[in-house]
Amino acid sequence: MKVLLVGGGGRENAIAEALVNGGAELYVVARHVNPGIKRLCRDYGLARETDVGKVLAYAEKWGVELAFIGPEAPLEKGIVDVFEENGIPAVGPSKEAARLETNKAFARRIMEKYEIPGRKLFRVFTDVGEMRSWIDDFGKPVVVKPLGLTGGKGVKVVGYQLRDNEEAKEYAKALIERDGKVLVEERTDGVEFTFQVFTDGRKVIPMPLAQDYPHAYEGDAGPITGGMGSYSCEDHLLPFVTEEDYKKAFETLKATVEAMRKNGTPYKGILYGQFMLARDEPKIIEFNARFGDPEAMNVLPILKTPLPEIVEGIVDGALKKAEFEKKATVVKYLAPKGYPTDPIKGVRIEIREDKIREEGARVYYASVDENFRMLGSRALAVVGIAGSLEEAERIASAGIRHVRGEIFHRADVGTRESVEKRVRIMKELRGE
Ligand code: GLY
Repeated sequence: MKVLLVGGGGRENAIAEALVNGGAELYVVARHVNPGIKRLCRDYGLARETDVGKVLAYAEKWGVELAFIGPEAPLEKGIVDVFEENGIPAVGPSKEAARLETNKAFARRIMEKYEIPGRKLFRVFTDVGEMRSWIDDFGKPVVVKPLGLTGGKGVKVVGYQLRDNEEAKEYAKALIERDGKVLVEERTDGVEFTFQVFTDGRKVIPMPLAQDYPHAYEGDAGPITGGMGSYSCEDHLLPFVTEEDYKKAFETLKATVEAMRKNGTPYKGILYGQFMLARDEPKIIEFNARFGDPEAMNVLPILKTPLPEIVEGIVDGALKKAEFEKKATVVKYLAPKGYPTDPIKGVRIEIREDKIREEGARVYYASVDENFRMLGSRALAVVGIAGSLEEAERIASAGIRHVRGEIFHRADVGTRESVEKRVRIMKELRGE
């Protein structure tokens, strides 16, 4: 089967590998040439992923039979609708359905309308006075969010990026003045985790849980990034998530897919639930309408069912199964010094892939060009896969030693100490 992959990051490198390993003939359109993806595909077209007309023309030129959309930006542009109108099935939600990610107020309203478990108290404001008095009456710490895509920036939480509710009101006012509206939610305390599922619009198949490390620096310090790394465990749960928490989170995702169907905005593709495990239950912080990056690199390398079989099931409405190896994974991203605020660009890094493989680790390329010059975002990820988290972390760390340059990474991703910290936070919150 000829498959077009749209996107050129680390997530897409993992998708490309899984498609090719499953027997697909791969074509790619992305903004830059990703050296890891280039060696997997028959042809590589350069274009902005959001230039839907160009991407479609490329797909038609090569006669692709199916398209897989990696990032959210082309979904927001309606790439799936355009491809399907032109007879090419595409993995990913329609523009309307992608609003679960691209419009945070839409996501909250769907959860409210269909009484989906795991929802949070929220309000959308267009009026500064109403916003101020609601926050005053509410009295507890809030989260302030722009409604649209923010690329991990823009969301501000009292106690973290905002000092108190007074500062939250100022920030919310600035967003109303800029965007015309703002979303204000209750703050939920706990530990975050990622739950991704495949869905054909009816059937929902879970993937192993993962935990992302969004902060730039060790000890969960520094600015929020796209994610500096992530881990998953051999039992497909996380050490602080109980079976009951898991069932509740899965119910939330299944109920969301059902609600989208009832709402007349059926959802197919990958649904990513970013959950906050609170004292009483997992609550949705946000939905994403695509694989996580880095979390795709946790789940796809251990996928046993061929990915082409799954994606055909998604587009045909006949999704059957997706099985994963019982293995732990640790993904560590290497980013240019200064990332995310002021990254070094254009500087070459040295990567001894042979040595990395000797350590048993894998490499997925992201924001580097064909000459391994850094383009400004996360450059490459090194992944360890093993029977235990400890061993997977050891392998990823050993692999990283064979990458040299003006880069940094978080050595604490997936370490015993950082995982235990999260377990402790949950125990304290639950009074155990
Ligand atoms: N790791 C967060 C995301 O993919 O949005």
